[in-house]
Amino acid sequence: MAASRRGFVLRHTRLGPVPGLDGLRLHLADEVLPVWRAVQVETKDADAPVPYWAVAWAGGLAIARYMAEHPEIVAGRRVFDLASGSGLCAIAAMQAGATRATSADVDAFAVAAIPLNARANGCRINVVHRDVLDEEPPDADIVLAGDVWYDPRLAERVLPWLHRAREQGIDVLVGDPGRRYLPTAELVELASYDIRTTTDLEDLDHKQGRVYALRPAR
Ligand SMILES: C[S@@+](CC[C@H](N)C(=O)[O-])C[C@H]1O[C@@H](n2cnc3c(N)ncnc32)[C@H](O)[C@@H]1O
Repeated sequence: MAASRRGFVLRHTRLGPVPGLDGLRLHLADEVLPVWRAVQVETKDADAPVPYWAVAWAGGLAIARYMAEHPEIVAGRRVFDLASGSGLCAIAAMQAGATRATSADVDAFAVAAIPLNARANGCRINVVHRDVLDEEPPDADIVLAGDVWYDPRLAERVLPWLHRAREQGIDVLVGDPGRRYLPTAELVELASYDIRTTTDLEDLDHKQGRVYALRPAR
């Protein structure tokens, strides 16, 4: 099954550069909607999720650019990339000098795509295929959360989990282009980037991707 998902990712994506990130390449979809339809056919599930793993999202791109500009934030540290999708943030962290990166995602196709993308960039990523939000925060120095505030149920679970991580001394970086459920009052802005979005799911072809640190819980 894992091999067939790997084959599916390879058939429905193209390996190419990522705008704004020199030296990082990902297997991405030229158009997302046909890949989404193909996932529905492949899984025989009309409610199959959007192939998030086939897109480099604006929130993750902002984090990746921030780490390229400020490698000290991850260099020599253990990184946990929550809701990793393509593995973009985890791979960018390894390129910035992280000692280890772990990606977590609930989508089996993401779990297939992440090692392919890691290999394309000459690095290794540990992949966790489960919902970690009911678990204790990971054994890591920094958690990356790229573009996770698009869904109200996910947002209400992510925030307390990130706060628990923060309370345990784990740094948290959030990247987001202003999604509806972004908890701005809990965040301190660190940087802002003009991000060219390539997806046919976004409303604009450029978005302002912002990187935030999580405020300590009050
Ligand atoms: C918009 S994508 C962001 C992907 C990547 N971080 C980026 O910026 O390109 C959101 C990702 O969250 C994943 N996801 C949703 N719920 C999750 C959960 N409870 N635990 C881990 N990942 C989850 C989805 O499968 C999807 O890959």
